[in-house]
Amino acid sequence: MPTSAPVHPINRLLSRLGIRVTRSQPPIPREFMEGYRRALDELKRSPGGFDVHEEMWYETGEHPARYTDFEAAFAASHISRLDPASILDIGSYRLFILGLLANYRVTTLDVRRREPATPSETVVTGDAKDSGLPDGSFDAVVSLCALEHFGLGRYGDEFDPVADRKALAEMVRLLKPGGHLIFTTHITRGRPAIGFNAHRIYSREMLHERCAGLALVEERYYSHALNRYCSLEEVTDAPRVWDVYCGCWQKP
Ligand SMILES: C[S@@+](CC[C@H](N)C(=O)[O-])C[C@H]1O[C@@H](n2cnc3c(N)ncnc32)[C@H](O)[C@@H]1O
Repeated sequence: MPTSAPVHPINRLLSRLGIRVTRSQPPIPREFMEGYRRALDELKRSPGGFDVHEEMWYETGEHPARYTDFEAAFAASHISRLDPASILDIGSYRLFILGLLANYRVTTLDVRRREPATPSETVVTGDAKDSGLPDGSFDAVVSLCALEHFGLGRYGDEFDPVADRKALAEMVRLLKPGGHLIFTTHITRGRPAIGFNAHRIYSREMLHERCAGLALVEERYYSHALNRYCSLEEVTDAPRVWDVYCGCWQKP
């Protein structure tokens, strides 16, 4: 699972006030600059067949972790535990799906058309709320960071304020009995909100209400301010700001 450095209290305070803080680059140390110059001179003297030009980067320190890493890690841990025979993905990060294709045949449903990346991908272009696929087709339905966008038109889908409800019902319909729904979305402990037409920000109660009839297997939260999984109490309540909900639910 990804880990991360503690967040400075000032940044936590700004985040509670609704101000998103991004970490600025640390200053480049003199020793690095000197080493860079020496190595560049050396390379120019002996380029070994390469054209050498300056393009300096300095990206040291702890490997950066983003919320998407935590979403993907949550889904990956459940998929490897369940080892589902059939998987439908709806709108997840493309790189996550590409990794999944290394081990699984995956049917991918997205409103935006694309070509299959490998022979293991079956692409369905369509709306999550009405896939046209048969009932009970999949052992797992996975959807990372997509539910909050359905029906808002951002990706070219039909405007439909309740498309997220319809899509969740569709996901459940497509699951076999005993199958698992693994999804991530945006959450707040404050007022639920729609930043039209970017996304919805749900309360935990709203998500539980939409998953009624399913059995909760595991849920986790990720805090942007803390840059780690967090308790429900640590989820933001700042207006218009969101943290991440990760849920694994089972169809009876
Ligand atoms: C936040 S993006 C996911 C990340 C993005 N696919 C990537 O690889 O970076 C949400 C995805 O959901 C898809 N999507 C949005 N509304 C949809 C809908 N109503 N039905 C199916 N897919 C939808 C979008 O096309 C988009 O690929």
